[in-house]
Amino acid sequence: MPRRRKRDLIIRGFSKLLKEDKLKIVAELMDNQLETIELLKSFWHSDKSKQKIFDEFSENTISNFYIPYGVAPNVIINDINYLVPLVIEESSVVAAASSSARYWSEHGGFHAEVVNVEKIGQVHFLWKGKKRRLLKVLDDLYASLRESTKHLTSNMEARGGGIVGFELVDLTLEIPYYYQLKVAFNTVDSMGANFINSCLEEFAQVMQHFFKEQESFKADERECEIVMSILSNYTPNCLVKAWVECPFSDLAGLDESLTGEQFAKKFELAVRIAEIDVFRATTHNKGIFNGIDAVAIATGNDFRAIEAAGHAYASKDGFYKSLTSVDLSQGFFKYELTLPMAIGTVGGLTSLHPLAKHSLKMLGNPTAQELMMIAAAVGLANNFAAVRSLVTKGIQIGHMKMHLLNILNHFEATNEEKEKAVEFFIDNKVTFSNVSQFIAEIRNN
Ligand code: MEV
Repeated sequence: MPRRRKRDLIIRGFSKLLKEDKLKIVAELMDNQLETIELLKSFWHSDKSKQKIFDEFSENTISNFYIPYGVAPNVIINDINYLVPLVIEESSVVAAASSSARYWSEHGGFHAEVVNVEKIGQVHFLWKGKKRRLLKVLDDLYASLRESTKHLTSNMEARGGGIVGFELVDLTLEIPYYYQLKVAFNTVDSMGANFINSCLEEFAQVMQHFFKEQESFKADERECEIVMSILSNYTPNCLVKAWVECPFSDLAGLDESLTGEQFAKKFELAVRIAEIDVFRATTHNKGIFNGIDAVAIATGNDFRAIEAAGHAYASKDGFYKSLTSVDLSQGFFKYELTLPMAIGTVGGLTSLHPLAKHSLKMLGNPTAQELMMIAAAVGLANNFAAVRSLVTKGIQIGHMKMHLLNILNHFEATNEEKEKAVEFFIDNKVTFSNVSQFIAEIRNN
């Protein structure tokens, strides 16, 4: 059992210690120090220069945490055939994305479009003045904000992006004296967090200076108190749509006991439930993010930002609901996913992480807009596979089959035992206790 450090044993300057020394401190907590150090070191990269890259992504790095890197083939989006990299620990996600992609590859593929690409940043400030006086100088303020950030925006402008517009938001009724300077940005192929935050912090300084200099302002109006300046991870104007469609008749083979139309209707009912019930909606959307997060991680993107925006968007109508919708008009099944997606193909980890760089190369070095469509299509693929299983055979058959190797590894099964188990469980139900019993029996024999 690991020992807990005494409450008053505060470690000072941990981040400044050498990696080996950090490792020792961690190992001291464990019963077997040598074994701990050996374990953690066994996951270090043998190439020191590669290891250094990983160490420097974060702070206090003592080892690497491996997660499988897989691929889903046959993901056809707008007639382009992608081999999509997915980084995920959940055994069934790649299989689900692949089977769904394979199915839709024979039914028109995925369709996708980017609806818009604006991101938002906010300077939150308090100002105790007459709003009409602020409105009179607002255009001048906006002009000086643009002027003062030219050194930050010129490169982005050369790439077709930059500041899209400013808006003053008056929230003084909610919080006394509280306003926002809300700024829309186009960050082209980058996710843009650093760019937006740098601009916002510069805006905040310029604002304070600008307010001080306004001759039309009374003395106490010349002070503006900056509360904070930060991008918003809610990006409802950076939206992507992905969908699949086919006549009911194409859905006929998806379940032995259902006609295509019956399948479509049962599927629609499952999605309707996710539109009205938050418990189901959360799981439904989690299945979408199984695919999206895996693409985001594989390409070095910030999956927490994408998830946060997605879940906020799922609540845009005042209650949390499914991010997908079904349309069954005129004998056609159309299944659509719409969600915000702040994703990038330049900057951040995208070119620093060797495998993120490789992922983007595998995808044909897409633009951010293409990657938005790829991630959305894979999210839809995963969700389609999940709902399809749920309304037909259930998910546990597939999940447990995929999980079989994990259970076998738990029992430290040999390769021979694994082969026997895989064969046996083709026709038998995989449960933890069934596998346990199977292993015990073959070992006894
Ligand atoms: C499991 O990771 C995801 C599912 O629960 C999604 C869903 O229920 O729609 C299968």
